[in-house]
Amino acid sequence: MTLRLLAFAASLRQASWSRRLLGVTVEVARANGAEVDVAEFHEFDMPLYDADLQAAEGIPPGAQLLSARIGAADGILLASPEYNFSMPGTLKNAIDWVSRVKPMPIRGKSAMLLSTSPGLVGGNRGLWALRIPLESLGAHVYPDMFSLAQGDKAFDAAGQFTDPVVRERLTKMVQEYLKVAEALAAT
Ligand code: FNR
Repeated sequence: MTLRLLAFAASLRQASWSRRLLGVTVEVARANGAEVDVAEFHEFDMPLYDADLQAAEGIPPGAQLLSARIGAADGILLASPEYNFSMPGTLKNAIDWVSRVKPMPIRGKSAMLLSTSPGLVGGNRGLWALRIPLESLGAHVYPDMFSLAQGDKAFDAAGQFTDPVVRERLTKMVQEYLKVAEALAAT
């Protein structure tokens, strides 16, 4: 069975470090046999969650598309920036809209979370915050999270890590996640 993953970085910024980290992660996942649907977060642009808007117009197209792409996958590779020790409001807003779709597309999916930031904690605190809504919606969030400190200095012009040890660390974690994700997808 081929594992199908949806991958996106929850940054809208053109020069996003999170997107670079996601790019290498996708390469590693594909090299290890996964089929990866890579999305841009902008594809899922959507209004702020408003229950009145939902009642009047239903789920907005961006949230429907994100739900469909999650629904078609066995798991998610999600790289998220850390904003103010938490996840970006844009990502929480997307999760809130998707949570209104029935049946809930996130339920039963595996997820591997990644972050990077110019800071020394690499955005890891934001991932702890992100686990909460994902787990509350029934996702199997892989226990280990990949956080890369000083992301602004970690990539070369081709988008690869300047330090080969970082790729080894990422590869090991992705391989371990894939094993768990495959087992979950088979159930
Ligand atoms: C940040 N940044 C940041 N970094 C960090 O390590 N911890 C934090 O709490 C925050 N908080 C924060 C809030 C807001 C509103 C912004 C705009 C930025 C810096 C952040 O890590 C940096 O901008 C990254 O480059 C964002 O990720 P992308 O867009 O490069 O993927």
